[in-house]
Order: sequence, then C-alpha cells, then structure tokens
Amino acid sequence: MLVEKNVPLQSFNTFHIVAKAHALARIGSEADALGLMADPVLREMPKFVLGGGSNVVLTGDVKPLVLKVEIKGRCLVSETAKTFIVEAGAGENWHDFVAWTLEQGYPGLENLALIPGTVGASPVQNIGAYGVELQDRFDSLDAMDLQTGKAFTLNAAQCAFGYRDSVFKRGGAFKVGTHQTIGLKDRALILRVRFALPKPWKAVLGYADIDKKMLESGCTQPTAQQLFDWVCAIRRAKLPDPAVIGNAGSFFKNPTVSIEQCADIIARDPKVVHYHLDDGAIKLAAGWLIDSCGWKGKSVGQAGVYEKQALVLVNRGAGSDGVGATGGEVMTLAKAIQTSVYERFGILLEPEPVVL
Ligand code: EPU
Repeated sequence: MLVEKNVPLQSFNTFHIVAKAHALARIGSEADALGLMADPVLREMPKFVLGGGSNVVLTGDVKPLVLKVEIKGRCLVSETAKTFIVEAGAGENWHDFVAWTLEQGYPGLENLALIPGTVGASPVQNIGAYGVELQDRFDSLDAMDLQTGKAFTLNAAQCAFGYRDSVFKRGGAFKVGTHQTIGLKDRALILRVRFALPKPWKAVLGYADIDKKMLESGCTQPTAQQLFDWVCAIRRAKLPDPAVIGNAGSFFKNPTVSIEQCADIIARDPKVVHYHLDDGAIKLAAGWLIDSCGWKGKSVGQAGVYEKQALVLVNRGAGSDGVGATGGEVMTLAKAIQTSVYERFGILLEPEPVVL
C-alpha cells in the first residue's frame, strides 16, 4: 500500500486550513482497507479517517496516519413494496449521491441536498436538515474495525443515532458481532452505506424556510425535485459555499434545555427562538443566541462569523495565496463565542466539528 508523506491537507478540509498529514493512505476499495490492516507497521499506527473534511478543524499538522476514503460506487440493492434500498461507497460525494437518487427515481433524500461531505461521513454526525435526519433514511452500513481488521455491518439501532451524534463519535468498548456498540470513535472505517427510501414517497414539509417557498411559488404539493431545488436555493442564500468561503457548516449544535431553563432565558430575552420537542424538552436556535450577542461579521484574525448565519464560522483568508485562518484562530473565536453566550444566557454551546 502506498503511503504518501507530508501531504498538504488544505484542499482536503472545507475550512481550507493550511496543515499537513505526516502520512496519508488513500483507501479506494475494501481491498485497500484489508491491505492496510495486513501491513504490520500501518496496522499499529494511530489513524484518523478523513471523508470530505467538512466537519473538522485542523489546529496543526496531523500526526496519526490519515485514511483518505475514496471508495466509490452507487446502486440499487433491492426493492420491496415499502422501500428502495440504495447503497453508496463511503467516498461518494454526498450531494452528488442525493442528486443521483432523484435522477434514478428513488426520492427521499431531497431535504438533505447540498450538505457538504461524503456518504461515509453522513452517519457519523447523523446529518440533518429541513425536517429530515439521516437516521430517518438509514438502513445499514459496512465498516472495518481498525483494531482487528475485521469487517462488520451495523443496523440503525447499533449506530445509536442522536442529534448530530452516533456511536462513531463516542469512545468506549465494542464487541464485533454483538449489540454492545458503546463507542466506535477512531475505531471504524466506514466502507459502504445503505439507505432505505420509503415508498410511496411523501414530501417532508413544515419547516419555516420550506413553507415560505411554498407560499412564494403557490405550489402546495411539491415534487421531490422541487423540494431538492428549494433546499438548494435556501442553502445557497444563507450558507457559504465551501468552494468559495472555507467553513464547516454549523459550528455549534442547537442546545436542548428544560422548560424551566427556557423560561429563565425568555426572562433574559423574550425574543429567543425556541422549538418544543416531542419529549417535552426545548431546542434553542444557537444561531440566534450567537447573533443576539452581536457576533455576526466579527473576526479573530482570519477566522470570522458569517454575516448571513451566525452559526457558521468561516475562513476569510483562504485564497489562491494559500494562507488564511489557522485552526487556532477558529478555536479562539469559537471559545470567545461560547463565553459570551454563556455569560448572557447561561448556555454552554457544544461545537459540532472534530477538532484535531
Ligand atoms: N437565526 C438568527 N440569526 C442567525 C442564525 C439563525 O436569528 O444568525 C435564527 C433564524 O432566523 C431561525 C433560527 O435561528 O429562526 C434557526 O435558523 P436556521 O433555520 O438557519 O437553522 P439552524 O438551527 O441555524 C439547523 C442545522 C443546519 C440545517 C438547518 C436547516 C444545526 C446545528 N444546524 O440550523 O445544519 O441546515 O437547521 O434544517 O442543527 C449543519 O449542521 O452544518 C447545518 C447547516
């Protein structure tokens, strides 16, 4: 297996932060993954799995062996009266895969259009947007245990999905072939993911931005393609395109609080944006909390808060000259935001991306 040394990672992370991988191996197939684990030296090295680099902040050169997942392929696996089961290689671009499913006549992923990253990364943080989370469309995945080299398959329950969370983000013990998947952080190399797309298709509506599109267009029964186009238009209007402005999507999770905590926050500011969840808890809009602390447009060095959506931190400097925000600047800004939101509302925001 070819291991490249001192590989620039700027084009492999959507923040476009300048950093290097001391060593990087490209995993283009399951055979590459097996080859990696058969090599006595590579097998023992600490590893970091990199998908599309859309959810990572690099604060320096990366010392663990970087596994750049490039496994391709997409196909219909089976069809029942109630679902299309569709599979994609972990290295497929997420948005291209969503567009392909629609072209093939397998709708169901349209609300998740234009999310940066790869198919393999999608279950790790249980991506979600406009009323749909990955877990709502997930069937199963194949992965390789990076300690034993054994392949295994997980269903949705074993992935233990939560809001922007899964078994792949948690540390802890794991037993192959059992349900004891407490944590698989830095342990699993996801190879392929299968999705269960429900039949008959039904539009997921009810999200404020989508409702606005329905009103504007006068179309109350959108097709999957219309929803896809609306979601793309909504995202393009308020979220920066990582190809143009480096960013990692929402930088913080939307916090969940109790009714009592929410009442306390409403007393501090009655305009606080909040949503009631089915379990009685309340979700707050982190973007609103940050915005109301006056952060929109502010910067630390070349790291800044996006002008149109305060939940997104951006790299203001990454141009063709190859310089821009450092991971340290991004984290200094993130910590300053956390402190001011905590001081004003008593809420500690939790970052979404992995900090390396
Ligand atoms: N808001 C502000 N100011 C801001 C940003 C937001 O007042 O600067 C308010 C908005 O007006 C709105 C509320 O906050 O009332 C929520 O904003 P928005 O609809 O943009 O959604 P969000 O909660 O900020 C979440 C996801 C996004 C996803 C959208 C749409 C998280 C952490 N983020 O954002 O996901 O696209 O909903 O479903 O849950 C991502 O994870 O990278 C991501 C982009």
